[in-house]
Order: sequence, then structure tokens, then C-alpha cells
Amino acid sequence: MDSSRAIGFFDSGLGGLSVLASAARRLPHERFIYLGDSANAPYGTKSDSEVLALSSRAVEQLAARGIKALVIACNTATGAAVESLRAHYHFPIIGLEPALKLAADRYQEGLILVMATPLTLQSAKYQLLYEQYGRNAVSLPCPGLMDFVEREELSSPRLDSYLKEMFAPYRGSRLAAVVLGCTHYLFIREAIGKQLPPATPLIDSNEGVTRHLVRRLEENCLLAPEGQAGSIELFSTGDAEKTRQLQRMFRLAQQLP
Ligand code: DGL
Repeated sequence: MDSSRAIGFFDSGLGGLSVLASAARRLPHERFIYLGDSANAPYGTKSDSEVLALSSRAVEQLAARGIKALVIACNTATGAAVESLRAHYHFPIIGLEPALKLAADRYQEGLILVMATPLTLQSAKYQLLYEQYGRNAVSLPCPGLMDFVEREELSSPRLDSYLKEMFAPYRGSRLAAVVLGCTHYLFIREAIGKQLPPATPLIDSNEGVTRHLVRRLEENCLLAPEGQAGSIELFSTGDAEKTRQLQRMFRLAQQLP
């Protein structure tokens, strides 16, 4: 496999841009192609088989571009499709899952809340993770929360009241951390943090995924050739405005912590 080829990324929409920004920072010589399947978003309230079909179609488009590796920058699509995609393609495929292990290793005391889409939380992959590391964790399905990000509604009274209601049952509990188990939620970190006790850690998977990607590229001798000029191409299954929105939101993703 030619190591100068691009790395494909995909998500149901804008969320995976937060993962792409982290990878592009760490791998400035790589070429990246990002597909946001906004025409079919959200994934998280669809069925397993629908998300499998949509993910397969998205990856077909990236594979046709000759990618050397794939990052499924979406917890929901990983849960529904990673096994089947790995069985079908020979390039390395890196998936994403809520960072519950990281949170559980770090915090043995207090409650860990895992925010994710309903489909992620129902997936066999997550159930297994929860059995192993969920001793002091509660899973919080957040239907509709990603839509705020797709609308670029990153702070609003409506978002505040959604989140307030979501966290209401845990007010007064001793919170150890909140896991952001959907890549869209990184864009609303501030709004989420505002509804929680000050300094509650918000944990995501981006650093771990980027490290995993680097390792898989190294193992397969797929790191970009020294001196290659890096590039980032963003495209959407939605209309031209959605592609412009990807560009806008990527600039924002580059400023995320
Ligand atoms: N960004 C996605 C995730 O990480 C999914 C959002 C959705 O399409 O519902 O799960």
C-alpha cells in the first residue's frame, strides 16, 4: 500500500471534525478526506441495520478514493458497523467508543455519567464495555442532542434546558466525571459544563483515537513520506451549504481543547 495515500474519516455529520482536528494536529504531513453524512443524520436514533447500511455506503465512497486507513469518527457507526467493515476491507480501520475505560481507571469514587446516542448505548460493543468498566457509571441516552450541533446551535436557552433536564436526576450526587460518548458533544462542551458542578472533568476519546491511529500507521508502514505536504478535504452528502458548514465547523474544531 502506498503510504502517500489519504486517510479517510467519516461521521454522520459534523461531530467527527473534532476527531479529525486532533489527528491533523498530530500528523501534519498526512492527507485527510472527511465525509460528513449529513444527508442521513442523525444516526443515533436509527436502527442498527440502517446505520450499518449507511456506514457501508459512506465507506464505499472513501474506499473508491483509494484511502490507506479509515477512522470511523462516530461512536454510533462504530457500534453498528466496525466488525462488518473490518471483515470487508483490508486497510486498518480505527473505531471510536465512549471513553468509559479511561474514566473508570481514573475515577474509582463517585458517579460517572456516559452521554451518548441511544443506538451507541444499545450496541453489543458498549454493553460489553459497560459490563467491564461500568461499576460506578450511568448511561445517559441523549436523543436529539446532536441536532443542536448540526444546527450550529452551540449555546442557547433551549440547549441549556435540554441539558438541565438531562442532569436533573443527578443533582446532589457526587459526580466523578462525564464521558462525552458522541463526537458531536465536544462542540457543546461549554454548554454541558455549565450545567455541572464546577470543574467536573469532561472526558472524550479523541486523544486515545489519535494515538491508536498513529500506532496502526506505524505498524503498517503507512505514515506519510517525510516532507509530504499535508492536506484536508471535507465533503458532505448534504447540499453545498452543508459543505460550507463543514469548513466553518472545522475551523472551530481546531480551537477545541
Ligand atoms: N457523532 C456521532 C457519534 O459519535 C453520532 C451522532 C448521530 O448521528 O446521532 O455517535
